Amino acid sequence: MTQDEYIQSIIKPSNPYLDTLLKEESLRKDVCPSIGPHIGNLVSFLVELLKATRVVEFGTCLGYSTICLAQSLEKTRGKLISIESSPRLVEETKKNVYKAGLAHRVTIIEGKAEEVFDTLPGPFDLILQDASKEIYLPLLNKCVKKLRPGGLLLSDDVLFPAKEVRKRQRELINEYNQALIKHPELTTIILPLGDGIAISMKKY
Ligand SMILES: C[S@@+](CC[C@H](N)C(=O)[O-])C[C@H]1O[C@@H](n2cnc3c(N)ncnc32)[C@H](O)[C@@H]1O
Repeated sequence: MTQDEYIQSIIKPSNPYLDTLLKEESLRKDVCPSIGPHIGNLVSFLVELLKATRVVEFGTCLGYSTICLAQSLEKTRGKLISIESSPRLVEETKKNVYKAGLAHRVTIIEGKAEEVFDTLPGPFDLILQDASKEIYLPLLNKCVKKLRPGGLLLSDDVLFPAKEVRKRQRELINEYNQALIKHPELTTIILPLGDGIAISMKKY
């Protein structure tokens, strides 16, 4: 048994619909990968740890991360705003979130995160960045500004520079990581889960 299999055998997903979504994702070629079970458990845990009630995510796809976040927001009685640029995926995620019994916790906004985010007042307790790598760096300062002190910016796929992905993606993420690490208002760690997740806390 691998480490991954062992963890998954003893820690069950926070919402039973997450397994259905993972299976669907593995059978489809028209969607990009979700954060998956390990990062999914981590983001759920962090929402509870922070007692987060105001959460936003960029990049919804089929709604795996959306359901992980919303399941914990059920406990904190919070709300998630999820921004997705693909109208087709917005419709699919709406249905999936409904099937997971969490529609009352989530508002899905169709549009480009870099435009929609400007219209959201904040402050936020937690932001999950998992959309196009092109927008990570341009949105960084805006995210920091709208986080409350002690709030978390979670950035997925930050180990792309060490993976076999397109050169452009490696460069974009490397530039982003440098900016995250040097940011005067953030303290950042990177965990090697999935394709890498950065956890950045806005300093008090
Ligand atoms: C990696 S997938 C998100 C996976 C999702 N967070 C999960 O774990 O289930 C990236 C998603 O970001 C969306 N996307 C790409 N660029 C975007 C942008 N500028 N604004 C909003 N969504 C974007 C894509 O359509 C895609 O569905």
